[in-house]
This record gives sequence, structure tokens and C-alpha cells, in this order.
Amino acid sequence: MAVLELVELEKHFGGLPAVDGVTFGFNDGEILAIVGPNGAGKSTLLKTIIGIHPATSGTIRFSGTDITKMSTHRIRKAGIAMVLQTPRIFGSLTVRENVVIGAMFGNPKGVSESDAYEEADEMLAVVGLSSKADLAIDKLNLHEQRYVDLARAIAGRPKLLLLDEVMAGLNDTETASSIELIRRLRDRHGVTVIWVEHVMKAVLSLAERIAVLDFGRLLTSGDPQVVMRDPKVVKAYLGGKALPDA
Ligand SMILES: Nc1ncnc2c1ncn2[C@@H]1O[C@H](COP(=O)(O)OP(=O)(O)OP(=O)(O)O)[C@@H](O)[C@H]1O
Ligand SMILES: [Mg+2]
Repeated sequence: MAVLELVELEKHFGGLPAVDGVTFGFNDGEILAIVGPNGAGKSTLLKTIIGIHPATSGTIRFSGTDITKMSTHRIRKAGIAMVLQTPRIFGSLTVRENVVIGAMFGNPKGVSESDAYEEADEMLAVVGLSSKADLAIDKLNLHEQRYVDLARAIAGRPKLLLLDEVMAGLNDTETASSIELIRRLRDRHGVTVIWVEHVMKAVLSLAERIAVLDFGRLLTSGDPQVVMRDPKVVKAYLGGKALPDA
């Protein structure tokens, strides 16, 4: 069953379409990677789904409910969370306090401060950062900061997680550990993952389906090995834009 459905979704900036009529269904519990050249509209698509950018037209349905015009705040409470490419850290706060923010805002029922702290500690354990909970967040490296962002996103137990290039700039060991963590989140916590990524080796080892965007349009989707050999996809990547690093 589709947990998220997009129908003729459009997002224009100054009259130019960044997302140009995307119709697609995301399956409950899948790990789906969205790939495509720079400027294809991948980040815009995720930000439109979660309400950071209001859709120009079209419909977004989450678990059967029309969320197209909902605020980001309500969408978060409805069960969708996002990790942006650049970690959103509050530098003056500790690692734990950064995750408490997610626990307070992400919980659909509202939550007491002590429950939020408890939830934050649980989420830090999930991402393996319990020992760093009391450190100032700016003492952490990029990989650890991304994990804090992820812990904040999964606090409140979203049903759907949107990830934007969370493996960019990581070394091989950090990438492998991120792959393992995302797989675990899905397997143990049943989260559906929609993941925008350029690191093609990671995509091919983790994604169960791939959707390719080009000029804001859905070029094709399906089995990762088949899709990445599709001549249309190769041409989109070779069209003078960035090549995937596989
Ligand atoms: N806030 C904005 N205002 C105006 N134009 C924007 C804005 N955000 C994105 N765009 C434009 O929308 C198009 C798609 O951008 P987007 O960032 O979604 O691409 P992307 O596929 O995520 O690229 P990358 O792989 O480089 O991250 C680009 O032409 C970009 O310049
Ligand atoms: Mg992007």
C-alpha cells in the first residue's frame, strides 16, 4: 500500500518549475532512493512533501490524508520527519538537548519535559551516541552531527523519514555505518525511508527501489540495478551535469 502518494505535484520558483508534475506512490516500509543530476529538483521535492515549500499545485496524500496545505509543524506531528543536507544544530545546546527539541515537536500527543528527555536518550542510544549526550554539539564531527539530526528526526517515532544527502562528505567507514543504521531503523522500527543521495555505491547497496528525477520530472523508477543501466538515466547524468561516483 502507498504510504505517500504524489499526484501531479508541482513546485515553481518565480514561474520556473523545480518539481514538474510528479505522480508517484511510495510503498509502506520501503527504502527508496531518489537520484538525479544537480538541480533536478530532489531537495525541492522533499521540502514540498514536508511543507517547507508550499506546493504550487497537485496533491500530497499521507496515509490517505491530504496534507498538501498543512504546515511543516502539523506534518511533523502527523508522522513525517526530515533530515536536511546541512545538519541543523543548535550550537549552544548539548547533544541531548538538541534531540529533546525533536522529541517535543515530533510527538503527536504533546509530551512532558521529562518524557522528552527520556525519548531523547532512547533515540541517542539508537544512533549510538549515548556516551556523547552531555557534550556541546559543536564538539562533534560531521558524521556524529548527522546522527544527532537523525536522532532528532526519529524522536516522536515518525512513520516516514525523508533524508537529503545524509552521506555526503562521509568516509567509507562512516558511510557503511550510516547504511547499517538506516537499514536498522526500517527493519526494527518499521520506518519508511525516502532518501535523496548522490553516493551511488551507498544507493545500490541500500535502496530497494530508485526513482530518477531530471528537470523536475520523474524520468523512471524501479529496481536499482535496472534503473541505473537505463539509457535514459545514463543520458540524464551525462548531459553535461554531475556524474554519480559509482
Ligand atoms: N528556494 C529557492 N528559490 C529559488 N529557486 C530554487 C530554490 N530552491 C531550489 N531552487 C531551484 O530549483 C531547482 C531544483 O533545485 P534543487 O535544490 O531541488 O535540486 P537538487 O536536485 O536537490 O540538486 P542537488 O543535487 O544539487 O542538491 C534548481 O534550479 C534551483 O536553482
Ligand atoms: Mg539537493
